[in-house]
Amino acid sequence: MHSRDNTAALPPSHDNLADLDSALAGFKRDYPSFDADSLDRLRAAEYSRLDRLGHVYLDYTGGGLYAESQLNEHMAMLKNGVFGNPHSGNPTSQAMTRLAEHARSYVLDYFHASPEEYAVIFTQNASGALKLVGESYPFGPGDQYVLTFDNHNSVNGIREFARARGAAFTYAPVLPPELRIDDDKLHDLLSLAQPGGHNLFAYPAQSNFSGVQHSLEWIERVQARGWDVLLDAAAFVPTNRLDLSRWHPDFVTLSFYKVFGYPTGVGCLIARRSALDKLHRPWFAGGTITIASVQGNGYYLREGEAAFEDGTINYLNLPAVEIGLKFIAGIGVETIHERVRCLTDWLIKHLLSLYHSNGVPLIHLYGPANTMMRGGTVTINFFDPDGKLFDYREVEAEANQVNISLRTGCFCNPGAGEKAHGLTEADLADCFGREERMTFEEFIRVMSGRVKDAVGGVRVSMGVATNFADVHRFIRFAETFRDRTA
Ligand SMILES: Cc1ncc(COP(=O)(O)O)c(C=O)c1O
Repeated sequence: MHSRDNTAALPPSHDNLADLDSALAGFKRDYPSFDADSLDRLRAAEYSRLDRLGHVYLDYTGGGLYAESQLNEHMAMLKNGVFGNPHSGNPTSQAMTRLAEHARSYVLDYFHASPEEYAVIFTQNASGALKLVGESYPFGPGDQYVLTFDNHNSVNGIREFARARGAAFTYAPVLPPELRIDDDKLHDLLSLAQPGGHNLFAYPAQSNFSGVQHSLEWIERVQARGWDVLLDAAAFVPTNRLDLSRWHPDFVTLSFYKVFGYPTGVGCLIARRSALDKLHRPWFAGGTITIASVQGNGYYLREGEAAFEDGTINYLNLPAVEIGLKFIAGIGVETIHERVRCLTDWLIKHLLSLYHSNGVPLIHLYGPANTMMRGGTVTINFFDPDGKLFDYREVEAEANQVNISLRTGCFCNPGAGEKAHGLTEADLADCFGREERMTFEEFIRVMSGRVKDAVGGVRVSMGVATNFADVHRFIRFAETFRDRTA
């Protein structure tokens, strides 16, 4: 416990934190690039329900929030049009096809992706996009799948496709305390690429556990060594610019609700057309073929994105994707990025300045203690004056009571958690492959005896509508654990 090192310096203005106005004044002085006035206007116009209903929403990495105008615009479109299934050819179908294709091309515009280079495939969510890559990537014996430790489970799951087809998979470690890629180790792993084989490297542009942003420079470096690159951008794109005219990953995956809240149920795979050509779909479905025959026992897949969209796409919601992206573009993702960066910096510094009266730090942070190459996802645990852990479930229950929405657990990111909490392969060896399944409760109980601090944590994440008052409320909440016994 006492290996925890809370050394980050406090910002200069630390005057009267208890009082919101005085804390806000200090914050504005310390972070002049934080555009509070325009955020106040945005929040009042588009997200007033947060304050009206007394919510402190700090789970943007779980799901973004929608602006009221997004709903109004989408509802007006639906109310004033008649839209049919785009697979037909009638007037209502053609109207829908025009809107859906407009949305598709706007997604490319938003990410500055050339339509000659990239295709957009609409999926149900980021996981759906990842599964498309996993099931269609031509893994075979001798092929390689390398992925970083801190991937989401939907990226981890691709290893099962690799395994089933005889390809090898290897994890590239991230190093605590910052949980960044071990550059030397990754460099070595890249030599696993089979010349002429199929080699896939997957990593998150931003970890949904630690907030770490891995360098996008890896894309080109890895490709140069014979790898296809799958960039999971789900946690990155809500508050960062992903410019696909500057970076050229083979596959990019994301969920739109994480960026602008509404609609849920739509994500996409943005794939280089050359990489799509390499994929083999394991089946065909309505919408993906030009011809299929029962008696002829054959089928022809359509070209490009159409071969990957199974059945009827979520067509009524696609115009809402364009509305959402335009809303974010109207604010400017760089503006959102800077606001979130300032709030994250303030939050981390103040969390790390919390001590019990006996001098023991209250908070342990997993991930970088500054905002260099990190996003607004902050994972922590709370400890008592004896260095004993407050169970994250208890912290969440107390947050719930004061209407603070945060997330606890391991966030579908077991590898980052294992590295953060110091769990080794040996610690986990006896959990799987048993005759009887291990229950989650048993897993937590057994692991709790093996970790150096905790199994899981408390995650606070910020986004487009987060204001200083939200973050201040969280610090005040964290302070209530001071001098308490776990
Ligand atoms: C980094 C990352 N990748 C993938 C996903 C999966 O997203 P979805 O559940 O929308 O499929 C998430 C969700 O939290 C995520 O944070």
